[in-house]
Amino acid sequence: MKTKIVANEIVPKTLRSVSIVGTGSYLPKRILTNADLAKMMDTTDEWITTRTGIKERHIAAPDQATSDLATEAARRALRQAGLTAEDLDMIIVATVTPDMYFPSTACSVQKAIGAKKAVCFDLEAACSGFLFALETARQYVGSGAITTALVIGADKLTAITDWEDRATCVLFGDGAGAAVVRSRPGVRGIIATAMASDGNLGHLLYLPGGGSRNPATAQTVKDRLHFLKMAGKEVFKYAVGSMLSASKEVLKKANMTIDDVDCVIPHQANMRIIRAIGERLGSPLEKYYINLDRTGNMSAASIPVALDEAARAGFIKHGAIVLMMAFGGGFTWGATLMEWRKPEPSQKISSKDASRVRVSNAQKRRFSTNASNLW
Ligand code: COA
Repeated sequence: MKTKIVANEIVPKTLRSVSIVGTGSYLPKRILTNADLAKMMDTTDEWITTRTGIKERHIAAPDQATSDLATEAARRALRQAGLTAEDLDMIIVATVTPDMYFPSTACSVQKAIGAKKAVCFDLEAACSGFLFALETARQYVGSGAITTALVIGADKLTAITDWEDRATCVLFGDGAGAAVVRSRPGVRGIIATAMASDGNLGHLLYLPGGGSRNPATAQTVKDRLHFLKMAGKEVFKYAVGSMLSASKEVLKKANMTIDDVDCVIPHQANMRIIRAIGERLGSPLEKYYINLDRTGNMSAASIPVALDEAARAGFIKHGAIVLMMAFGGGFTWGATLMEWRKPEPSQKISSKDASRVRVSNAQKRRFSTNASNLW
């Protein structure tokens, strides 16, 4: 039996309930497989698969910037929500790979889709960025300050990947996911959120060059400071602990247990991290939507892409309680618990989008085969 929810224990009285009313995602066409990587460097499909669960990742074209990926995802989310760009009051893009320092990637998306009245800004919380941006939008929509927000997680991680560092470059990919956020009368939507940060751990996952600390020079480029650096083992340890604590916190806030959760959308960094969390939370892996085998870690894009695929493929059922959890550089981490409702009848999936669902299902089936030996 589901735990009874007392609304004002979960959302402060001043906030109205806020829901995701449409999702969309975009993955670039080019696919780089583990076999391709094995031709480029000293690695093997076996090493990458057993250490991470990743088999392939999508790579943006040289002329595709993060805002181009984000724009595609945004259009699909708006279409599903049955809204237009002119309905948007706010666009937040969570990313660690903005097109450039400024203008913000969100402003570039605004220009591309014609969201004339939207206020636009980027948010940087690495792989936790989408959940942090979703909570930011919830505060604005929930308070009544705005009606409609577009929250995007988008990253072109291959732009900051060091292809000479085999310990990191095999992990990442490019993509974008988007969610339209509104208040939907009579729907609980987002039930609880937990967010946290610890700047003391920043040195374990970071990009040292190009900022005001080490402005770009010929020397910083020569020293490869414009590429992501990571202490993999330490990051692994903190990833498991922090996503566990955030998940427990949101469940506590909602007066629920893990058994009340129907579906989990974890950050798609590593299958071993997800398995460790599943074991410690006591939730079976069948409840977890996994696409990292064909996407790799797409940072802020990982959760919204997985959410969009899972919802469109029917993995998340109408009325399901969904737990999303993320972890990333900073360090930052968080979790969001929500009740999922299908788009309204007026927000039917277009035939173009429906064809993407079939692809998704086929890929998911393939993953089940691949993943059986990991679990
Ligand atoms: N192919 C083959 N061998 C590789 C390799 C690759 N791509 N990358 C590293 N190795 C080697 C190392 O050189 C090391 O060799 P050595 O023992 O001879 O020195 C060996 O494999 C083990 O390396 P290690 O770093 O101990 O591996 P690991 O079991 O910790 O796995 C990660 C490495 C990166 C997969 C793992 O630490 C991880 O997933 N960490 C979390 C990363 C993450 O999720 N970051 C994003 C968070 S948002």
